[in-house]
Amino acid sequence: MSEVLHELTVELGERSYPIIIGQGLLGEIDLSSYVSGSQVMIVTNETVAPLYLERVRGCFPGKHADVVTLPDGEKYKDWQVLNLIFDGLLEKRHTRKTTLVALGGGVVGDMAGFAAACYQRGVPFIQVPTTLLSQVDSSVGGKTGINHPLGKNMIGAFHQPEAVLIDTDSLKTLPSREVSAGLAEVIKYGLIRDPGFLDWLEENMDRLVALEDEAVGEAIFRSCTCKAEVVAKDEREGGLRAILNLGHTFGHAIETFSGYGNWLHGEAVGVGMIMAADLSAREGSITHEECKRAARLVSQAGLPEKPPESMTPEDFMNLMAVDKKNVDGQLRLVLLRALGDAVVTADAAAENLAATLAEFCRHQ
Ligand code: NAD
Ligand code: GLY
Repeated sequence: MSEVLHELTVELGERSYPIIIGQGLLGEIDLSSYVSGSQVMIVTNETVAPLYLERVRGCFPGKHADVVTLPDGEKYKDWQVLNLIFDGLLEKRHTRKTTLVALGGGVVGDMAGFAAACYQRGVPFIQVPTTLLSQVDSSVGGKTGINHPLGKNMIGAFHQPEAVLIDTDSLKTLPSREVSAGLAEVIKYGLIRDPGFLDWLEENMDRLVALEDEAVGEAIFRSCTCKAEVVAKDEREGGLRAILNLGHTFGHAIETFSGYGNWLHGEAVGVGMIMAADLSAREGSITHEECKRAARLVSQAGLPEKPPESMTPEDFMNLMAVDKKNVDGQLRLVLLRALGDAVVTADAAAENLAATLAEFCRHQ
């Protein structure tokens, strides 16, 4: 059965686009109206292709669809593998009228989107995210890019998709560890902007972990609504959008430290959010009980609560120094002003940050 459950728009003037959320949509919904030319290049990976490629071809009746299949993994989110997309486009003679289709998780989405931003100085693309994390976060908002050995997502471009198609049925094949990683970003929206959503998450986390259709559809809709509102207000991260990075400064340090792909992005963000909540509590903006509430939700989602055992406060400080939010060498962090309200600040007291790092790097 195929059913559209929710539809919303990312409001960006003439670059506005729909997010279509439903069940059984792959292969059933016709996306050809989002393709202006006759060519489509589906970019996917070796894990997702056998599961969903044929169905997604069916979303483009009357179009000529080619495919580039990438190796699977965060460690392949680099220049060499990005180049495989350009090889495919050039070998198959794709013109400036082509449309790329990103079919997969956030790695495929970020890479296909970046390839679309660069190919012949920019071609359109469509996001078909198949992980929970990509459905609630990375497919929306137009951030695209690749990693550099010295920093995550350091090379990239803003490039908005023409449409985002979310089929919640695709989550049925997702490993549970990846579901938990996606839930970290879902919790993030409650913490930064929507206290009512936090209450809802506390009541429904077990249903989400069990992938109950109705709960998952609702969580994706509320998450995408929050992200779409923030992106509409601040597309290029002049200010507000940076709150979407709650936990990411600590999290990116964990990812870079442990080698891309060993810790999942969402796992690192989950720990990072608890660390940000801990620092917010030390700064006096939330209570220690509220901090524990955030930590409980992360744990209920099946996520780790501490960074890797071998990581030291010095490792964090060195790795956080290359964060994109930093200005003039000054570390900027997303902290909580209250549960459900975040702010970007350079004003956290150094001794409080040191205390948070010492607390989380102390593994008994
Ligand atoms: P991922 O893309 O690596 O996908 C996780 C794993 O699940 C992969 O092995 C993938 O092949 C597999 N997979 C995907 N869909 C599947 C399905 N339906 N069934 C079974 N297996 C499936 O990881 P992710 O968590 O989706 O994305 C993480 C990436 O997203 C990171 O690179 C991160 O930097 C990026 N990101 C970008 C943004 C943004 O705004 N652009 C936001 C958040 C994260
Ligand atoms: N995931 C952070 C952002 O899209 O801005």
